[in-house]
Amino acid sequence: MSWCSGLEAICRRDVPLRDYTWYGLGGPAAWLVTPRDEGELAQTLVQCTVARLPWRVLGRGANLLVRDAGFDGVVIRLSGPAWERTWFDPPHAHAGAGADFPKLVKQCVERGLLGLENLVGIPGSVGGAIRQNAGGRHGSVADYVHTVRLVRSDGSVRAHSAAELGFGYRRSQLDGGVVSAATFALQSGDSAAGLARYRALWNEKYASQPPLSAKSAGCVFKNPPGRAAGRLIDEAGLKGRRCGAAEISPKHANFIVAHPGATTQNVLDLITLARDRVFERTGIRLELELEVW
Ligand code: EPU
Repeated sequence: MSWCSGLEAICRRDVPLRDYTWYGLGGPAAWLVTPRDEGELAQTLVQCTVARLPWRVLGRGANLLVRDAGFDGVVIRLSGPAWERTWFDPPHAHAGAGADFPKLVKQCVERGLLGLENLVGIPGSVGGAIRQNAGGRHGSVADYVHTVRLVRSDGSVRAHSAAELGFGYRRSQLDGGVVSAATFALQSGDSAAGLARYRALWNEKYASQPPLSAKSAGCVFKNPPGRAAGRLIDEAGLKGRRCGAAEISPKHANFIVAHPGATTQNVLDLITLARDRVFERTGIRLELELEVW
């Protein structure tokens, strides 16, 4: 019996992942599963566990680099109406894991639900933003999380408070749980003031970063304590350095941009180069922020 017995309607074989990532790079997933609701997600996780198949959850592919060989396991994609729903009950906002995070931010500000405008310009899904505790200079997702519903690999489902989720700098400890939905605790306030801040932070961000149209996955490395990875790579003289058609952004050295014709290996070679050069110069080991499958 196949591992995906009963899930055939939502399973596809050998699906190119490049179509689902901002980088537009990388090979296929052996299986791509698109559960339509929490029950099908739970069933998928249980069956992967029983069959001992490795699995990953695909968000909107904004912080993801897929190897050229692809991923030899099950990729779970939370897309469709059940996952992309957002709803509001001030001062709270709720969203499914597959909802577009920037869209949620905009919807909140427009309704005078304030807080998330500090996170303007962070692409990705709500689930991905929570798992990675996405953020920047003005805060991170954990600052606004109230509760998160997690589905576990044994099929159980439970809501967890933010304190239970082990949030740290660009990380969380979901212990193998998959985000199904989340509630954010915000402040009711003046939408005009919120929108003004939203626009100001947007401009601040994109004055210093490559445009969203450039193929990248945002910052490649975490900032080491007290330092900025972009500055360290810049000081190592690597801005504009290329491997194949991948390039360390001349605008912000913690971004690697994939020009037409680039491969994942080109990006990985630049990652190794940046790590090695920064280590030789400073003794600091840069840690990946970007997720690599
Ligand atoms: N810098 C350089 N050269 C460069 C890039 C940066 O000298 O090529 C210097 C800047 O001048 C500044 C310092 O490094 O003094 C920090 O740079 P920046 O203000 O651009 O912020 P960052 O620390 O590089 C962080 C987040 C970003 C987020 C911004 C703005 C991390 C790893 N990065 O970047 O998040 O957009 O703050 O809020 O935490 C991401 O997560 O993908 C991401 C891009």
